[in-house]
Amino acid sequence: MTRITAAISAVGKYVPDFVLSNKLLETMVDTNDEWITTRTGIKERRILKGENKGTSYMAIKAAKDLLSKKTIDPKDIELVIVATATPDMQAASTSAFVATKIGATEAFSFDLIAACSSFLYAMSTAAGFIESGKYKKVLLIGADKCSSMIDYTDRATCIIFGDGAGAVLFEPNTEGLGIQDEFLRSDGNGRDFLKVDAGGSQLPATAETVANKQHYVHQDGKTVFKFAVSNMAAACERILKNNNLSKDDIQWLAPHQANKRIIDATASRLKLDSAKVMMNIYKYGNTTSATLPLLLNDYENKLKKGDTIVFVTFGGGFTWGSILYKWAY
Ligand code: UT7
Repeated sequence: MTRITAAISAVGKYVPDFVLSNKLLETMVDTNDEWITTRTGIKERRILKGENKGTSYMAIKAAKDLLSKKTIDPKDIELVIVATATPDMQAASTSAFVATKIGATEAFSFDLIAACSSFLYAMSTAAGFIESGKYKKVLLIGADKCSSMIDYTDRATCIIFGDGAGAVLFEPNTEGLGIQDEFLRSDGNGRDFLKVDAGGSQLPATAETVANKQHYVHQDGKTVFKFAVSNMAAACERILKNNNLSKDDIQWLAPHQANKRIIDATASRLKLDSAKVMMNIYKYGNTTSATLPLLLNDYENKLKKGDTIVFVTFGGGFTWGSILYKWAY
């Protein structure tokens, strides 16, 4: 029997129009373009402005962009997964709203929340549905309105994050392309180093939590940096070893875009030529769940059928891992 693998057959994206440049940040907090550029590689990020616009606003736009390029009837989509760390609201699923708004009315849907590894984990989840043989069209959207949880008076975090969304369609492949293997991990000991304290079930919102700025992201940047570099490099090495591959067998590294120095350090541990490393952090910052699909959108023209890509992420929780992938079109 022919083996079914799960492959991406189309991509789409959306980033908000508003550009928050380093120069503009200089007017908001005690920082400067030179520090941000050398410490993070970021020059600007996009911010979603406007009343009542949440993550779904961008997810819908990214999905519609994909649907405008791939002629399929949205009713043929059977599952919509929204990978996010910033769902529109508690309780009501963001993905249900997105699916309905794009006309995927025959689909079921769910949100997948795993900080900066949401999209990577969701790739594995989407693949499972396709590989089972029961599902033929799974729409996966990575979207985050990071600005909704950022304190724009805190220079340690406000310079890093941006908003955006990217979508991919997974379909069955019988040529052996698409997802080849995965190495996914988490470690709850990392919880305190990168988090939003309040607003969840453990510490619901009160006037006090608002006054104490506990609804904003707080991170111990140095610790997260250290764990990110070692775990991203180890996850890449592991997936290559498990598949008897060397760095020369990889055409592309698609790393989570959290900090250019983290990406460079990961590539350098692998002794990987920088020309093989996908990078767009300079224009979007860290968009959490959207970094990987935004990379695919930006590099789609350069990708060739059969190219081997290693996806790798690290994020809050801690959550991290790698996926070995063969581009299918
Ligand atoms: O998405 C996954 C999760 N997130 C990450 O992977 C982020 C990982 N961490 C990082 O990317 C880096 O730790 C940061 C970019 C957040 C910070 O860079 P750093 O090199 O670790 O800086 P630092 O926090 O150790 O600060 C170094 C200095 C400090 O000054 P002193 O104490 O040496 O005088 C800071 O006060 O830089 C200062 N500083 C700044 N200066 C100008 C911190 N933030 C800024 C700023 N502008 N925005």
